Amino acid sequence: MGRDVIIACDFDSAEKTFAFLDKFTGRKPFVKIGMELYYAEGPSIVREIKKRGHKIFLDLKLHDIPNTVKKSMAVLSRLDVDMTNLHAAGTIRMMEGALEGLTRPDGTRPLLIAVTQLTSTDQESMEKDLLIEKPIADVVMHYAHNAKLAGLDGVVCSPLEAGKVHDTCGEKFLTVTPGVRFADGDIGDQKRVMTPAEAKKIGSDYIVVGRPITAAEDPVAAYERCVREFVD
Ligand code: C5P
Repeated sequence: MGRDVIIACDFDSAEKTFAFLDKFTGRKPFVKIGMELYYAEGPSIVREIKKRGHKIFLDLKLHDIPNTVKKSMAVLSRLDVDMTNLHAAGTIRMMEGALEGLTRPDGTRPLLIAVTQLTSTDQESMEKDLLIEKPIADVVMHYAHNAKLAGLDGVVCSPLEAGKVHDTCGEKFLTVTPGVRFADGDIGDQKRVMTPAEAKKIGSDYIVVGRPITAAEDPVAAYERCVREFVD
């Protein structure tokens, strides 16, 4: 899979999701299904979107003991998603277990990506709440390196970190980056943002775009603009 735009389908029902996806009559976008939609609709939403011909990033961010994550990933592998994820904070052993569980009997598996530190965690909350007293940038790179050691395919990170992740973990290690906004758009609650063109320049492999597409007056035109700026 090459560089692509992933639309974050942050809806709370299948009805709203399909009303949105029905607009895309041409190219079928790669979509992200997060906890909100998955917990609302269950695995059937994944099967239905897959049946419509979309690639799927199942963003459930698993974090539990290695055995539980391994067995849960084995169940998710049957859903035929293209990409899924977990928290690198669960340790290298948990990530190795996840990879084992996710690998199907025929040796194929979805891409597995790690979340490093959530972008909602800042230096202060990391030190006070988690008692991690290193610079947050070092923590992010250390977690990315752990994900690479465990055999994962990449990390979710800010587009601002994508270049450094590639320097540390190699060009083939994937960077999946949210926090993307059009140069003339609203940034909403995102703090550190980049345009699709800037994300391309810095080496992001996938951008995850939500509201700039889902809340646009013409979502298909907004998606196509993202593709033009980031992929073409
Ligand atoms: O609407 P917006 O473009 O901000 O959506 C970005 C998507 O990426 C949301 O689904 C959000 O949960 C997700 N995300 C993020 N920042 C992270 C990890 C995930 O914005 N660090």
